[in-house]
Amino acid sequence: MEGREIRGRFLSFFQERGHTVVPSSSLVPADPSLLLTNAGMVQFKPYFLGEQAPPYPRATTAQKSFRTTDIDLVGLTDRHLTFFEMLGNFSFGDYFKEGAVDLAWELITEGFGLDAERLWATVYETDDEAAEIWATKLPRERIVRRGKKDNFWSMGVAGPCGPCSEIYVDRGPEHGREGGPEVDEDRYLEIWNLVFMQNECDANIEVAGDLPKKNIDTGMGLERMALVLQGAGSSFETDLMRPILETAEEVSGQRYGKEPGTDVSLRILAEHGRATTFLIADGVLPSNEGRGYVLRRMLRRMVSHARRLGVDRQVTAPLVERTVELLGDAYPELVDRKAFVLQVAAAEEEHFGATLRQGLVRFKEEAARVREGGGSTFPGEAAFLLHDTYGFARELTEELAREQGLEVDAEGFERLMEEQRERARAAARGVADRRALVEAAREGGPTEFLGYERLEAEAAIRALIAGERAVGSATEGQAVEILLDRTPFYAEGGGQIGDAGTIRTDSGVLEVEDTVPGPGGATVHRARVRAGEVRAGQPAEAAVDADRRAATARSHTGTHVVHWTLRTLLGEHARQAGSLVAPGRLRFDFNHFEALSRDLLEEIEGTANARLAEDAPVRAYETTFEFARSQGAIALFEETYGDMVRVVEIGGYSTELCGGTHVARTGEVALAVLVSEASIGAGLRRIEALVGPDALRWVHAERRLLEDVAEALGAGDPQQVPDRARRAVARIKELEGELQAIRRRERGARVEELAAGARDVAGVALVVADLPGEDTGALRELALQLRGRLEGRRHGAAVLGSADGGRATLVASCTKDLVDRGVTAPLLLEVAARDVGGRAGGKPHLAIGGGGKPAGLPRALAGVPDRLAALLEGSR
Ligand code: SER
Repeated sequence: MEGREIRGRFLSFFQERGHTVVPSSSLVPADPSLLLTNAGMVQFKPYFLGEQAPPYPRATTAQKSFRTTDIDLVGLTDRHLTFFEMLGNFSFGDYFKEGAVDLAWELITEGFGLDAERLWATVYETDDEAAEIWATKLPRERIVRRGKKDNFWSMGVAGPCGPCSEIYVDRGPEHGREGGPEVDEDRYLEIWNLVFMQNECDANIEVAGDLPKKNIDTGMGLERMALVLQGAGSSFETDLMRPILETAEEVSGQRYGKEPGTDVSLRILAEHGRATTFLIADGVLPSNEGRGYVLRRMLRRMVSHARRLGVDRQVTAPLVERTVELLGDAYPELVDRKAFVLQVAAAEEEHFGATLRQGLVRFKEEAARVREGGGSTFPGEAAFLLHDTYGFARELTEELAREQGLEVDAEGFERLMEEQRERARAAARGVADRRALVEAAREGGPTEFLGYERLEAEAAIRALIAGERAVGSATEGQAVEILLDRTPFYAEGGGQIGDAGTIRTDSGVLEVEDTVPGPGGATVHRARVRAGEVRAGQPAEAAVDADRRAATARSHTGTHVVHWTLRTLLGEHARQAGSLVAPGRLRFDFNHFEALSRDLLEEIEGTANARLAEDAPVRAYETTFEFARSQGAIALFEETYGDMVRVVEIGGYSTELCGGTHVARTGEVALAVLVSEASIGAGLRRIEALVGPDALRWVHAERRLLEDVAEALGAGDPQQVPDRARRAVARIKELEGELQAIRRRERGARVEELAAGARDVAGVALVVADLPGEDTGALRELALQLRGRLEGRRHGAAVLGSADGGRATLVASCTKDLVDRGVTAPLLLEVAARDVGGRAGGKPHLAIGGGGKPAGLPRALAGVPDRLAALLEGSR
């Protein structure tokens, strides 16, 4: 049974039994406490928690899921995956344990035709009810009770949770030991997890209470089910992954199943190729934090393993192509965004190629160091650095080390890796760890947003959080986070910065510095008490800083118009990759392959301003996602959209899904100027623009700058500036040339003069001179020229010195015949350098020395003839 058929049969089985088929949600979850969507239930979390009424009592999905827990194990085994498809059925307060088990049993045994003799079930240790239900289908010896670790499911962060019951398939004696899942999880493979979702967990994954209703959440790993039904040895050999593995074979010219080390790399290419395609298609871009970092690490690991297999050409492109071909039917967004995915992956690959080359240099240095010291162990720290900074896969370092006869300190490396994993886990918990905030937000529920219509509103203070604690009151000077029941403050989102303003109560005033989205739809106002005292529960007047908001609204409308202009003038590919909408200022990142010429920038500016001048109305309305899409609304896919979306439409030409705040008519933006354009990675460009009065201020500043330059150049009219400046530069060049010629002549005369003053020491012409004020460069130049000059007399040496402030500098040169006799410049300078309190070094024919005792210079120079005589004596 092909993967697509398993998926289809699962969904239609549940659809026929009253479940609504709901599309997969994005891998980027709406839930801020999660890094990536890790289960089918994630999009339904508000229904389980009772925060929102479910629009249907039963649902079924094939959900794109991603788990980072075992990311380092991918490739090393034939089992672990990061990305997988989870098939699930859900009941929101509808059927419960019995219904879930009956449905699962019917689908598995009848729908998929699995032999009941091969099935096992596990239940939570105290769940007699579930055990009894299973006993109507299975003999009791194949019903196993297990503890919290195995049979109590939670999201890993605060949220809904509950006891679960898992279904296992016995793959037969050739896959391991007899005795059920407790004994061997390779032979007994878990295929389906039924969660009896009835509890709520806190951030420490302790049960904190009951959910309002009893629900069902199940998850079946599609790849695993395919493995079972196709009798494949591993997920990699199912029709869902085998073709991608084959592409990895083609790209690398290696065969799977020949050599264990090669298999690791091939599996990584296939698995990561598939997973990264899905991540990028859902709007994740490589970066150094959060999910962007997960993506970057995976792309780099792929490239690193490809290099290890000896591949020199691009590897990401063919893997992306194959993934889209294979899974584009089930996930059409892959097809829509293929060009973008290819571009992002190729840019990272190219960028990383350079890093890899630098890492190789580091590796060689380190390996040489170890070998010179007579060692045979390549240090764990160095291997970790190569991994962490240069993205070297561990296997790559091991292989390179082996070629040099070294072994990597695996233990040291592993220890550092573990430390890093712990840091990553801590970071992933980041949001959930803000327990006080999470709990207060949960208790209060979502904050009502009033800020589209008004800037001031009466509200009640629901909670005050100071650091890690909820507090009853806060006094002057204290920094707090405030939750209100309703607010006119816009919380940062969609690139637009959060509002600032004030919140007043009878007893005190708060200055709001920033507003950000909090857990569970709550709005968090970050504030400081400016005067008096404020208390939780007090009524308050919330007032947004109107000027700042107006300047931000101008930027936001300006951003949409610029976006429209870019797509119109550059093409559809110029889609938004990120933006910042701040008061009077905007930054816009988009996909494009080359720098924008000056002409093009002017054209963009001209077109955008012409549009603004039309003074078209800006209209916002709520509608269904489907309707918005049918209107051609541009969805920025790094965001997740619920069923209802907000559309911002400008003058019938620009339609975007957007939750931000805008001006009423484009004329309010008045003016937009582009102030910079730059590359921010291959295929990605960033422009920055100013709007309204901020744009005008910039124009004024530029004009002043030009006037100042004109004045400095003595040009009466700024029009003359370019010509004047060009002439001035040409004149400077000319004068520099003349100056150099004069210096050359002078130096020649100087060399002649110094050479004429040479004395004879045992047949060698020796020049010794104190040249106050000359720097090292000048002394070196003179010493070299003297050497050339003295070469004609066959035997010659020069020692020049100068003292300047706290330092003396010495330079010596020797002609070739002296060097051949073993009389070298460093030897000649050795004693003199000591006299000035330092040391000398350099090449045999030219040495430089110096020290911190300038007073010793006369003595140092005076001693040179004797030193030379002694060296000559010794060389005989
Ligand atoms: N949420 C459960 C799991 O992920 C069942 O879907 O295993």
